Amino acid sequence: MAKILVFNIGSLVTLETLAKEKRHVAISAEDLSIKSNAWLAVGQGKILASGTGVVPPIYAQFPQLDAKGRLVTPGLVDAHTHPVFGGDRTHEFAARLDGKTYQDIAKAGGGIKYSIRTTREASSGDLLDRCLGLLKTFLRHGVTTVETKTGYGQNAKEEIRCLEVLAEAKKRVPQTLSVTCLGLHDQPKDFADKSEYIKHMTEELLPEVKRRGLADWVDAFVENGYFSVEDVTPYFAKAQSLGLAIRLHADEFAPSGAAEAAAHWGAASADHMQKASDAGIKALAESGGVAVMLPATSFYTKIPYADAARFRERGCPIAVASDFNPGSCYLSNLPFVASLSALYCGLSPYEAFVGVTWNAAKALRLEARKGALAVGYDADFVIHELNTLEQWIADFGQTDPSAVYCAGVKV
Ligand code: NIG
Ligand code: FE
Repeated sequence: MAKILVFNIGSLVTLETLAKEKRHVAISAEDLSIKSNAWLAVGQGKILASGTGVVPPIYAQFPQLDAKGRLVTPGLVDAHTHPVFGGDRTHEFAARLDGKTYQDIAKAGGGIKYSIRTTREASSGDLLDRCLGLLKTFLRHGVTTVETKTGYGQNAKEEIRCLEVLAEAKKRVPQTLSVTCLGLHDQPKDFADKSEYIKHMTEELLPEVKRRGLADWVDAFVENGYFSVEDVTPYFAKAQSLGLAIRLHADEFAPSGAAEAAAHWGAASADHMQKASDAGIKALAESGGVAVMLPATSFYTKIPYADAARFRERGCPIAVASDFNPGSCYLSNLPFVASLSALYCGLSPYEAFVGVTWNAAKALRLEARKGALAVGYDADFVIHELNTLEQWIADFGQTDPSAVYCAGVKV
């Protein structure tokens, strides 16, 4: 793998302090460890060193890349996406403009159930093409690590098929994918009874996922009108007994005890969280979990935003992700979402940036090698067409990066 010296970097965001201290809370501007007039040395797909001023002779002989005074940052990490689905639900956007809510549409047979039908109708080749196209779009926005969920198969056979699509996608894209089996998203029509459905997913799906190593995570939509904490208990207990790690959709529309349950299950993250109780946020923080805010879903469906102050006060790490999906958030631009989080959730620009890098890596338990440009970390980095982080947060993802590198390779 090639060696590279990136020189003439106007502003290099390394997040080294946070990586060194393994800290994910109380984020200030200084914590971004920004170096001006900097250089970055890469070899074997890893970060070798970085600094300011004169380049040490050992790195000066590497093949050189002129950053032309621009901003260089770690590659972005999107910790919550749903990129495997068939069909189209953009008509739901029009329905919402007409006054219908996300839940009204779901009750009328739209929503997740609609995507379950169209996903089952789609061939695996079509699902893969769609997914690869989306991953390419994410890459264009500087996203080098992506959490990718299933959730539109919703029986063991179809969920496995969607996981196979992700296994194939993993081989074909330059990004690192962290794969999630979202087995309990919404009950499909083929199961008359909810408990029979949960039993099927628990007993037929999870052991097969484990046996074939198809997923890094098991997820469920723990929400009023979908699955209660009680409903998901056997499913997560099974996941735990199989050694499958947990993350979950929690407290988006109403407080249902999902954040508390996430803490109880040792979940790596609880996502959405607008309506999480204070006790739930505190419990999640104490359990070492991350709250993943999904502000683009609030923007897209006009529901309340999560309030960063409530999480900050309770020492809960905050990540920010796109929630890209066919229904509640057909928005794939993570830098745009980071700007939204600053504007509407009350994150500082620095917290927002950390939310889509270092803290997102923690939400995926990849913080030992992703989300910062510290020595030994994966050389996933972005050379922007912008000069400063202040420009980046104000830009709302309008300006594509000039180059994106995954493991030291230009992609
Ligand atoms: O994270 N909330 C549950 N799942 C998705 C929505 C999926 C859909 O509407 O298709 C979400 O927002
Ligand atoms: Fe989601």
